[in-house]
Amino acid sequence: MRCLVTGAAGFIGSTLSERLLNDGHDVVGVDCFVPYYPRVLKDSNLQGPLGHERFQFLEADLNTIFDSDAIPYAGILDGIDVVFHQAAQAGVRASWGADFAIYTHNNILATQKLLEACRKYPDIRVVYASSSSVYGETPKFPMHEDDLPRPVSPYGVSKLAAEHLMRLYFANFGVKTVSLRYFTVYGPRQRPDMAFHRLCASILQGTQYRMFGTGEQTRDFTYVDDIVLANIAAAERGQLGAVYNIGGGSRISMNDVIAKLEGIAGRKGNITYEGRENGDVTHTGADTTSARKELGFTPRVDLNEGLAKELAYIEQVVLPLKLN
Ligand SMILES: NC(=O)c1ccc[n+]([C@@H]2O[C@H](COP(=O)([O-])OP(=O)(O)OC[C@H]3O[C@@H](n4cnc5c(N)ncnc54)[C@H](O)[C@@H]3O)[C@@H](O)[C@H]2O)c1
Repeated sequence: MRCLVTGAAGFIGSTLSERLLNDGHDVVGVDCFVPYYPRVLKDSNLQGPLGHERFQFLEADLNTIFDSDAIPYAGILDGIDVVFHQAAQAGVRASWGADFAIYTHNNILATQKLLEACRKYPDIRVVYASSSSVYGETPKFPMHEDDLPRPVSPYGVSKLAAEHLMRLYFANFGVKTVSLRYFTVYGPRQRPDMAFHRLCASILQGTQYRMFGTGEQTRDFTYVDDIVLANIAAAERGQLGAVYNIGGGSRISMNDVIAKLEGIAGRKGNITYEGRENGDVTHTGADTTSARKELGFTPRVDLNEGLAKELAYIEQVVLPLKLN
């Protein structure tokens, strides 16, 4: 396959790019390095792919790359079989206030421009990185794709809007879209604003970890390699226009995660509890029946193994960068 990976310098996009290259595919990566977290981490994410002869990287914003006057990028979709659309402004807590404009720009407008461009390429499949945050506080558990989505954060609203665009462009113009709702993704390269990343760094450095809420909130954590495999399966056999939950099946409270990590690291954490943040949901849990049946999705990496790998990454890659 010849693939376009948007958000290729990010946590998931770079891991996906690397896997596609190792599987023998050609990859064009696009990323505009939004300044949400230090670029040095994204440069480090890209080190593997950039050394590969079948990888081409374009530093560009999806909002302009498809414009008719964007000469250097003309024909960027020629010969592409699959677009893995990972680019977005991530982060729930930062999505309130004036910064919502950043979310509409990168998550909604950029997605619409990509889909418009794909209308001219009827054979391209677009696999979209949606999110469990589209659900909000559902009364039913586990969360099923047919539940009424009611996001509780502006970020969730932006991810849901883009998911609707995927469905609309499939229904109206036959653009071959498949959406995957990722449930909290973790593993090496995880974004520095995310809980496991901050927790690993604080345990290793003996610094304070600020827990938002009581720590009893639960998440269905999903290891990044399992997300990558779900993307590849969606490209190969996802039903067009469909939405699939992708959850790792490791639903656990943050307090239990801390205990596990302390065990792996052999050190106690220094945890302070603060008020719950607006936009955070209490529990997430994925019903993955459809993904299992139609994509053959089976999460392979359990939480103990995945946490140990993320801890090693923070120790060996992030802490030597001395970002704090
Ligand atoms: N990490 C998770 O737990 C999680 C959960 C659910 C959904 N998702 C979704 O998965 C995708 C990847 O998330 P991540 O955690 O790897 O985030 P990330 O921030 O590490 O990666 C996203 C990348 O997209 C790039 N980008 C943003 N806007 C762009 C634009 N307009 N043009 C080009 N590049 C742009 C950013 O520079 C960044 O490198 C996102 O769509 C996110 O919403 C992530």
